[in-house]
Amino acid sequence: MSNFTTHEFDVIVIGAGGAGLRAAIEASAQGVSVGLICKSLLGKAHTVMAEGGMAAAIGNVDDRDNWRVHFSDTMRGGQYLNNPRMAELHAKEAPDRVRELEAWGALFDRTKDGKILQRNFGGHRYPRLAHVGDRTGLEMIRTLQDYGIHQGIEVFMEHTVTRLLMDGDRVAGAFGYDRELGRFRVFRAGAVVLATGGIGRAFKITSNSWEYTGDGHALAYNVGAELVDMEFVQFHPTGMVWPPSVKGILVTEGVRGEGGRLVNKDGRRFMFDDIPDLYKNQTATDPEEGWRYVTGDKNANRPPELLTRDHVARCIVREVREGRGSPHGGVFLDIAWIKEKLPNAEEHIKKKLPSMYHQFKQLANVDITKEPMEVGPTTHYVMGGVRVDGDTQMSNVPGLFAAGEVAGGLHGANRLGGNSLSDLVVFGKRAGEYAAAFAKDKGRGALDESQVNDAATEALSPFDRPSGENPYTIQHDLQDMMQERVGIVRTEAEMAAAVDALGGLRQRAAGAGVVGNREYNPGWHTALDLANLLTVSEAVARCGLDRQESRGAHFREDFPAKDEGHAHHNTIVSRGDDGSMRVRREARNPLPEELDAIIKEMG
Ligand code: FUM
Repeated sequence: MSNFTTHEFDVIVIGAGGAGLRAAIEASAQGVSVGLICKSLLGKAHTVMAEGGMAAAIGNVDDRDNWRVHFSDTMRGGQYLNNPRMAELHAKEAPDRVRELEAWGALFDRTKDGKILQRNFGGHRYPRLAHVGDRTGLEMIRTLQDYGIHQGIEVFMEHTVTRLLMDGDRVAGAFGYDRELGRFRVFRAGAVVLATGGIGRAFKITSNSWEYTGDGHALAYNVGAELVDMEFVQFHPTGMVWPPSVKGILVTEGVRGEGGRLVNKDGRRFMFDDIPDLYKNQTATDPEEGWRYVTGDKNANRPPELLTRDHVARCIVREVREGRGSPHGGVFLDIAWIKEKLPNAEEHIKKKLPSMYHQFKQLANVDITKEPMEVGPTTHYVMGGVRVDGDTQMSNVPGLFAAGEVAGGLHGANRLGGNSLSDLVVFGKRAGEYAAAFAKDKGRGALDESQVNDAATEALSPFDRPSGENPYTIQHDLQDMMQERVGIVRTEAEMAAAVDALGGLRQRAAGAGVVGNREYNPGWHTALDLANLLTVSEAVARCGLDRQESRGAHFREDFPAKDEGHAHHNTIVSRGDDGSMRVRREARNPLPEELDAIIKEMG
């Protein structure tokens, strides 16, 4: 071990978005030593892409809201595959986490009488999203970072973890390197919290930046943790489609929450054409009713643009496929139209959606106060993730915890917008608390030198193949293939072809080579990320093949209906002893009587 710099902590947290920061703060508050490792700079996380708000049933704008309605909306949005305990805890604890952020300095937008303002979002019965214009995720990160930095947490920026280290069946730490100089690092710990976010870079069109290569999912899977429901990948309905260099960048759902309407090239509001049964009794039947809802009429129903993301994304795909799309392969999202209703529309748009205004002005030369945007679906989020206990967030591997996007369960088959930011802090806090308790109780595991040496050899292997294939080419081909074959609309044949193709890509990745040395070498980093991307892509494709129905974000052209004939099931992924990926079905978590009663009561 003497060849490697070793750092010792009670708890290490891998990932420093909302969940990682909140976990680190909580663990530190429990009096244990904490190391926080982030792949990028502190403060740069996909959390900032949850722009429109944080869902919490505070009831400031509509006092009919409460945790029970939030719970039932989350379950309905997730098509009842959610872990009900997580959905319950999330709905109950989100309001406290919002107030805590406020106490720590977050500056939420306010109602006229000075309370935290809440906005409409898809699938939420009442205005529920506490927000800061369209920069809510950014404000969350800023607040947690400002607060966390004073809690005695040691931060390792620009570090990538390539392996978890084990002591028997419990986790004992992690192995990684610093991205700047390529020096190896060993982290010994009593407990490890994964908070690495999602897998968006497995797809070509995505709102995720370069860091999101499924690292936490793969790290956990490689040491025997189970993954759950990996077939459910969320394609956010509205990403930029033009110009090509910005394709995929998020256009917040907040635009639709403020009254933005989706229209096709013929000017038709196509979202009125297809309202799912599950939402018929909550959806406006005409544009006037939809607008009344946006402006706070408690008797009106939501406009169909605020149906759940899975459905809106599919409607957009349908319009484009059937030749009614916009010039660059999307549809139009129009917020400028509200000038027909509001005398101060331009000012209102700039105040409520400042980032969107600047984003379109600077990147696409479009003034959204005057003209519609062109938008289309973009890979945004994965509902599937490490299977955890709902209360503690511990996986089936002792000492290994997961929180935020890398953890599965809360969102079921589809996540409601705004439920991500609240997820991060509710379960980040829980993971930090229980990881600290685990570390106090069990102490630190022993490090095994041979595991560390293996990890180092594996990490250096791309340098042994200087004339090997360029890892960027393989990553590019993987992203194209996943977009094409395991995207929004899926079939058996396409997904089976994807599984085959992944075998070929895996072989190519094993032959990928890099030149130069370990300092400032992004080609090397990409070569190492490939293994994780391949693992999560295989999990998505295999689980997608296995689920022979359409539900939430998983839409099968060959099985277009929900399978109500069988008990609902979750899809579980595990690593077999021979290293191959196993997929099995498990009956979904039973709903305790009191939660079942809430769902029935909410209709
Ligand atoms: O559209 C958005 O602002 C994204 C929010 C979310 O993913 O929760």
